[in-house]
Amino acid sequence: MEEEQVPKEEKPQVDSPTDDTETAQTRILIKGGKIVNADRAFDSDVYIEDGVIKQVGENLIIPGGARTIEAAGKLIIPGGIDPHTHMELPFMGTQAIDDFYQGTKAALAGGTTMIIDHCIPVKGESLVEAYEKWRGKADSKVCCDYSLHVAITWWSEQVEQEIETVCKEKGVNSFKMFMAYKDVMMVNDHEFIQACKKLKAEGALALVHAENGDIIAENQKKLLAQGITGPEGHLQSRPEEVEQEATNRAIMLADQVNCPLYIVHVMAKSCADTIAKARRDGKIVFGEPIAASLACDGTHYCSHDWGHAAAYVLSPPLKTDPSTPGYLMKSLANGDLHLVGTDNCTFNSEQKALGKGDFTKIPNGVNGVEDRMSVIWEKGVHNGIMDACRFVAVTSTNAAKIFNMYPQKGVIQAGSDADIVIFNPEATRVISKDTHHQAVDFNIFEGMECHGVPELVLSQGKVVFEDGELHVTQGAGRFIPREVHASEAYSRILIRDKVRKPFKILREGDEGAGDGTMNGKGGINPMASEGDPSFATKRGQRDLHASSFSLSGQQVDDHVAPRSGRSVLNPPGGRSNIFLS
Ligand code: URP
Ligand code: ZN
Ligand code: ZN
Repeated sequence: MEEEQVPKEEKPQVDSPTDDTETAQTRILIKGGKIVNADRAFDSDVYIEDGVIKQVGENLIIPGGARTIEAAGKLIIPGGIDPHTHMELPFMGTQAIDDFYQGTKAALAGGTTMIIDHCIPVKGESLVEAYEKWRGKADSKVCCDYSLHVAITWWSEQVEQEIETVCKEKGVNSFKMFMAYKDVMMVNDHEFIQACKKLKAEGALALVHAENGDIIAENQKKLLAQGITGPEGHLQSRPEEVEQEATNRAIMLADQVNCPLYIVHVMAKSCADTIAKARRDGKIVFGEPIAASLACDGTHYCSHDWGHAAAYVLSPPLKTDPSTPGYLMKSLANGDLHLVGTDNCTFNSEQKALGKGDFTKIPNGVNGVEDRMSVIWEKGVHNGIMDACRFVAVTSTNAAKIFNMYPQKGVIQAGSDADIVIFNPEATRVISKDTHHQAVDFNIFEGMECHGVPELVLSQGKVVFEDGELHVTQGAGRFIPREVHASEAYSRILIRDKVRKPFKILREGDEGAGDGTMNGKGGINPMASEGDPSFATKRGQRDLHASSFSLSGQQVDDHVAPRSGRSVLNPPGGRSNIFLS
């Protein structure tokens, strides 16, 4: 570690510690607490050595020289994983003020021990080169483990080839598309479809910023022409339906090519409902609200203080309907939404001021990486909307599963990384820009009292935050590579490939006609939907073993014509040009 890399106020880890110090740093026993995992909570001790959880249980026999940390009355939870950050992102004529050092330091202070940031190539730039550039920026600065999503901002054969390279050689399994930021990062539907096809072929996950960029550009022009230049213009240029339409479109397009989809920064009630409905229809889609959308509303854009209003400018915007945050929190609690990010992308007041006189130039983004855990505990658990296990699921475990890092991350169990938070559910703290560890000079959660405080944080088995003090090492975080085909996203995708095979209607004179099936082998019933037992069976043959076969007489497929003993010439309901001929 180079001396000048460590700011004075932090205590750097000792380069050549004595044997005792070294042992106590690498061997830690956490005693008397309650472990909370996503599936259960139980009283237990935890023994850590060399950055890994070695034992979980009571009355553990451990080697000498270990440091004991008392955790009676506290919760021992997996370190938070923030799946959506933009540290030092070059954006809208400036650069996000929290860099990989300051941003990850703040993350640790708040109980988040891993971030997934975004590598965003400019249009025309090589994905591999952009990836190397981002690794070059992050590796030497990160204080906690991190990973990268790679954005697809343009489309070409080169991009298609590089997606494969990035998946196979660079440890990336998630790629982000923007349906907004026209002419800068936005892709059109054709490009989105091509990207999803390739991602599906590689076993990667498609992430999407869902807003209709064309309509936003129209609205912006119209509002500016009407003299609306303040932050309220940002809100009005992006009404809720702009987000909802794109959410619906992205889900439909990804589903058509059977690519799993992850909607980032879900800001609206209607979008949460759209995602929930799509999942009920069997589509594979995940929804990520952010700390901002779960705790703040869009009334801030109407503040008479320009700086205050501009500080809340992010895209999609917060919604003015004050019931939105609570609704999104309930959606998160009941499983309609799945995990919480922050979209941490911070700009100081002088950077926000670039948009004085033109709201389209206010750099988009807010804070969150430090306060996410406390805000979700306060609004979710303390308010009685979710329990502690669900809190762990949405702040850590589900991210580990969806992005294929589980069980290395996201759980307290033997063999997992010792990224651990000792969380005091009884303690309180008040969020403020004056005490936060982020570089940004504003905090969108200012003044919020939070019950539930991350009191001690371990990253890779080392105590990095204790008694309100950080003990971090710049560059100590590791890049965590992630394999493709995460089972959380892909197990059903692969089955759907089999059951969604297109069917062919055999007609008189066609080879193979006359065996009474749709395609000579047992095709798809065009009248049935996925999950219906007759979906992939011979048409008209009732499956008495299907769970939906009813003894009461009426059957789910009564509307389907009985087996004719002849090849089907016209499908039930008449001919349609959707059927292959
Ligand atoms: O306003 C936002 N969200 N800024 C960061 C970039 C993005 O769209 O995620
Ligand atoms: Zn976005
Ligand atoms: Zn973002």
